[in-house]
Amino acid sequence: MNKIDVIRALLKEKIAYRPILTDASAFAPSNIALCKYWGKRNAELNLPMTSSLSIGLGDKGATATLSLIEGGDRIVLNDQPMALTSSFGQRLVAFLDLFRQATKQSWSLNVVIHSRIPIAAGLASSACGFASLVRALNQLFQWNLSSRELSILARLGSGSACRSLWQGFVEWHAGCAEDGMDSYGEPLAVEWPGFCIGLCIVQSGPKTLSSREAMQRTIDTSPFYEKWPAVVAHDYAALKSAILSQDFDALGKTAESNALAMHAMMQTAWPPIVYALPDTLVAMQTVWRLREMGISVYFTQDAGPNLKLLFLQNDRAIIQSHMPMLEYLQIF
Ligand code: PMV
Repeated sequence: MNKIDVIRALLKEKIAYRPILTDASAFAPSNIALCKYWGKRNAELNLPMTSSLSIGLGDKGATATLSLIEGGDRIVLNDQPMALTSSFGQRLVAFLDLFRQATKQSWSLNVVIHSRIPIAAGLASSACGFASLVRALNQLFQWNLSSRELSILARLGSGSACRSLWQGFVEWHAGCAEDGMDSYGEPLAVEWPGFCIGLCIVQSGPKTLSSREAMQRTIDTSPFYEKWPAVVAHDYAALKSAILSQDFDALGKTAESNALAMHAMMQTAWPPIVYALPDTLVAMQTVWRLREMGISVYFTQDAGPNLKLLFLQNDRAIIQSHMPMLEYLQIF
């Protein structure tokens, strides 16, 4: 099965729908994983080796606004026209092509994406980009798909996008079906007032190596990749139980250790993959120093040099006094 087959299977008779509205607009939050997705069992359908668990980033995300136009797609990202030949431009057009091919229709869109997070800096900008895009397409065509179905479509654009259809804690079930129909996001019905995230932006420019390439290289060359599924199984269970019992230290410890395990494994790939910059390590050391002072703060890190700090509202002021650059996000 390829991506087009998946779209046809999800749309069923709606495959014949033409765009009903001339404009549509939708928001999707970015998400960061507390238990990471690293490695695909099917690279075409972005099916993961393991399940993962994330948290939505509130109003940090992307809004996609689509308008039907004549004469080919146009993309505007954060008020700047984007070359269709740029790597994000190519990914977006390729994604729209899937729908044109699946529906055997030709239409062109003006795609305006407004992202409230730095692009391609390991802050899941592609996740919220693709999730907002499928939501906006769902409106434009009036498909009335469920969030679960939209999650499957978003996954075809970028794996972690399937967790960006919801706020709060979201599980991505790895699934085992070959067509990936059981590989989607699902929210946990947990509210955790006081749960905070701080963005520690060390560098906001584009990352040097895409997560797609880095994942494949890790699987192909790291002698430790075979241990990863067991690490995830342990951390996933520990995180879920920490979330359900609202045990913040258990959550923070597991999330930090999971991120460090993922990055340690990447360092053993060849050529080695190191996303951290010197300032990333400085920020980690500040976090560890704060913990020695008795403050419950932890970090996680994705495919980029930036850290996301996890802490509770009560500790916000003291943490910010030690890390003035921290961008604070309230989640619930
Ligand atoms: O969905 P992708 O291809 O951007 O990969 C995401 C990889 C990590 O952010 C490092 C981990 C995750 O689970 O989000």
